[in-house]
Amino acid sequence: MLNWFRALLFAALFTPSVLLAQTSTLAATPPMGWNSWNLFAGRVTDKDVRAAADAMVSSGMKDAGYIYINIDDTWQGQRDAQGNIQANSKFPDMKALADYVHSKGLKIGIYSSPGPQTCAHYEGSYGHEEQDAKTYAAWGFDYLKYDLCSFRQIMNQQAPNDPAKATQMMKDAYVKMHKALLATGRPILYSLCQYGWDGVWEWGPSVGGNSWRTTGDINPTWDRMTLIGFSQAGLSKYAGPGHWNDPDMLEVGNGKLNMDENRLHMSLWAILAAPLLAGNDLSQMKPEISAILTNREVIAIDQDPLGKQGDRVSEVGPEEIWAKPLKGGDKAVALFNRDDTPLPMTLKLSDVGFASGAKATDIWAAKDLGRLQNTYTVTVPRHGVVLLRLSK
Ligand code: GLA
Repeated sequence: MLNWFRALLFAALFTPSVLLAQTSTLAATPPMGWNSWNLFAGRVTDKDVRAAADAMVSSGMKDAGYIYINIDDTWQGQRDAQGNIQANSKFPDMKALADYVHSKGLKIGIYSSPGPQTCAHYEGSYGHEEQDAKTYAAWGFDYLKYDLCSFRQIMNQQAPNDPAKATQMMKDAYVKMHKALLATGRPILYSLCQYGWDGVWEWGPSVGGNSWRTTGDINPTWDRMTLIGFSQAGLSKYAGPGHWNDPDMLEVGNGKLNMDENRLHMSLWAILAAPLLAGNDLSQMKPEISAILTNREVIAIDQDPLGKQGDRVSEVGPEEIWAKPLKGGDKAVALFNRDDTPLPMTLKLSDVGFASGAKATDIWAAKDLGRLQNTYTVTVPRHGVVLLRLSK
């Protein structure tokens, strides 16, 4: 009887369907956290990562839902004689660092490439996929960003002038690491980064991706942030619990983005059900930036359990209206003004499914607007947003 029970338990634990079920509980809502790249790029050290974990807690971001502390490129050193990847001198002890981040009640992420080299020319995982996955699991990592980088050269060498074969090679490379991660038995969120090539949103889930970058790199400028954010129109049908479109990490608090631009950035990413990975210096964060990143109502839109990405409803010159369905029939509606001057914008409630009116809250103004009928007109600041939550 006992043996029979053991056999059943063993089968239940180790059949592939259970392994897949384990991954589908990862990223049930879009991942939230911090990543080192946007601010520190190649300068990131163990100390910066610990400081980010400390500040994640002390700033209230952890309480607001931010969990992952992700190390991006440039942590890698050489491989040892057995081929095991070592961290470089900026990261003296990866296991101790992971333990430290976990001791704060947070999770920790790491970065690699399917190619021989990462984008910053550090050691990639090519030919060492299983070994690297085991190392990440042994160190205690919970998240892997897997960035195509030099694997493109392998594709060019082995499939010159054969785009279909090259695409298949890329998919195979992502599957290979997915299987290696599953085999570790540790739940490790799998974040694909190949800049949105070859319609990755159509096949990202089938290679095990919990998220996939949809574009090239963001930077902290109005032009780049909006070019990326507003280009996401039409992708909503590809996102859902366990698998998300990723328009890249947040630049809130970086560069010269002003407060209206930061609020627009945060609102647009929330409407897109995008991963919310802050990219600023959390330990030097101004209160007004922290207020944007931790706004509970905005985060609730991004993290809504229905798991539906929002999409564009209308675009008239610089005026864009986007809406995101929420659990229980509510909707988040954003009125975006991309112009260089303030503009009065009018929302027709019937355009967003509330022909017989809606109760409304202006989220950034934290103001109950009462019941709206037919239309709502409001002046939207230049490069700004009015974000509403509507309910029946
Ligand atoms: C690529 C990625 C970035 C970052 C860098 C690191 O450019 O798209 O997000 O990870 O590599 O080198």
